[in-house]
Amino acid sequence: MKVLIADKFPENHIQTLRDAGFEIIYEPKAGENDIPNVVKDAEFIVVRSTNVNAAAINAGSNLKIVIRAGSGYNNIDVAAATAKGVSVSNTPGKNSIAVAELAMGLIISLDRKIPDNVKDFSNGVWNKAKYSKAEGLFGKTLGIIGVGNIGKEIAKRAQAFGMKVIGYDVFKTEGIGIEYIDDVEKLISMADVITLHVPANPQTKGMFNDKLFGLMKQGAMLINTSRADVIDEDALIKAVKEKGIVAGVDVFKGEPEGKDGSVSSKLQNIEGIYVTHHIGASTEQAQDAVAEETVKIIVDYKNTGNVLHCVNKK
Ligand code: 3PG
Repeated sequence: MKVLIADKFPENHIQTLRDAGFEIIYEPKAGENDIPNVVKDAEFIVVRSTNVNAAAINAGSNLKIVIRAGSGYNNIDVAAATAKGVSVSNTPGKNSIAVAELAMGLIISLDRKIPDNVKDFSNGVWNKAKYSKAEGLFGKTLGIIGVGNIGKEIAKRAQAFGMKVIGYDVFKTEGIGIEYIDDVEKLISMADVITLHVPANPQTKGMFNDKLFGLMKQGAMLINTSRADVIDEDALIKAVKEKGIVAGVDVFKGEPEGKDGSVSSKLQNIEGIYVTHHIGASTEQAQDAVAEETVKIIVDYKNTGNVLHCVNKK
């Protein structure tokens, strides 16, 4: 069986697949428009952020599963896959700790203005007066919107910092020290720090809009390590400028598909907004766990015909 890996993937896990008898087509730099030319008769396509569109899916003459080596699968045309009888799978939970670690990093960075602090020092500017003004996190309320695998990992870490954790989710897990608030608007008005962990779908598109920013406490913090579409970026900029909201986001509209090059975003150079390079899942630990699960999906399909973590089951 053939596996097209159209994104960066750890070498040792590629070797595991080879040892198990799979033929690997490794195209780590492939973009959306390259896949139709390289997929040929591969049974599997594996990607991280590379888009897999309808043309790519339809070009695969023998395609069985498109695997999103990660959590959010909005870069895959699931409808086109379903129409062609191709399964789509992801690796849920395998990069949650890494995303939670970045979310905590953004929270601390915003509270202590660490990036500005470092930038000024590098530029020869000494400003202990400015950077001595920080609120601190102890005793503050963290509101988690979407208490899934990632949300729960953040809750643990925030609790270790002495934060009170409240959460909004239709599915509730007892015994993890989270007070669930059934009304998302109420949660937003209660929290000092809000962190978003919802998938990109029609229900969440533009969800965090002027109205929800209006409900946030003056000077509160918003963290988004989920998907760019969840936030109305114009509303965010307005809230930062007019309400003193500060934001740490790992995702933004117009994210480049490739791994390097130039970038342009409305969120650049706005005091009070820190943007990172969609690196939430990018620790070796997380990528190792994601790759291991990806290999499991492929080998399991070969051995049993079952599709693990299928997101488009009939
Ligand atoms: C995910 O959905 O798993 C994360 O956003 C990470 O995405 P990446 O693997 O493209 O970095």
